[in-house]
Amino acid sequence: MRLLYLVSVGIHILAATVWIGGMLFLVLVVVPWLRRGGRTDAAIFLRETGERFRNVGWICFGLLLITGTFNLWVRGVRLSDFGRAEWLESSFGKTVLVKLGAFLVVLVVSALHDFVVGPRATKAIAADARSTDARQQRRRASMLGRINVVLAIVLVAAGVVLVRGTPW
Ligand code: HEM
Repeated sequence: MRLLYLVSVGIHILAATVWIGGMLFLVLVVVPWLRRGGRTDAAIFLRETGERFRNVGWICFGLLLITGTFNLWVRGVRLSDFGRAEWLESSFGKTVLVKLGAFLVVLVVSALHDFVVGPRATKAIAADARSTDARQQRRRASMLGRINVVLAIVLVAAGVVLVRGTPW
């Protein structure tokens, strides 16, 4: 069981690294490079790399949910704890709630970005990259991407606190 737990934590951290690293690469490298303009194939590049990373991202979410649930179970967390006021008020319970809440918001924001706003933005850019519509859709897609970057920091911080306890 111990080996399985260690492998689960390892996969959890790896999945978190792939998702966060990929997202930061898109936000800090790809989008600013495309924004510099004059990239005739910008729309194709963004659509194709975005679709590939979308698949990678959702595989990571699945792995994070499975390994995260197992990690919680190994740490003694049971469904009944979510009905106990004493556990919900404990710093461990609160950290688990913050983590699960942030993860739920990440899933909603990612679904909006990956399946609604993102495809709309690449379509508008393909039609006319300089149009008002393309600018608006791109702005919305970037804003969703940035919300997920902030949530990723919250999720990592909550993970560290789950393992090592609160700083206060
Ligand atoms: C995008 C989502 C997530 C990210 C980026 C993330 C990130 C992390 C990181 C970096 C750690 C390691 C912390 C450390 O060792 O100091 C961690 C630990 C942990 N995470 Fe997550 N996590 C995510 C989702 C989840 C979910 C959905 C759950 C529960 C269902 C979860 C439960 C846990 C648990 C229980 C630990 C402690 C592992 C241990 O026992 O050592 N995580 N997480």
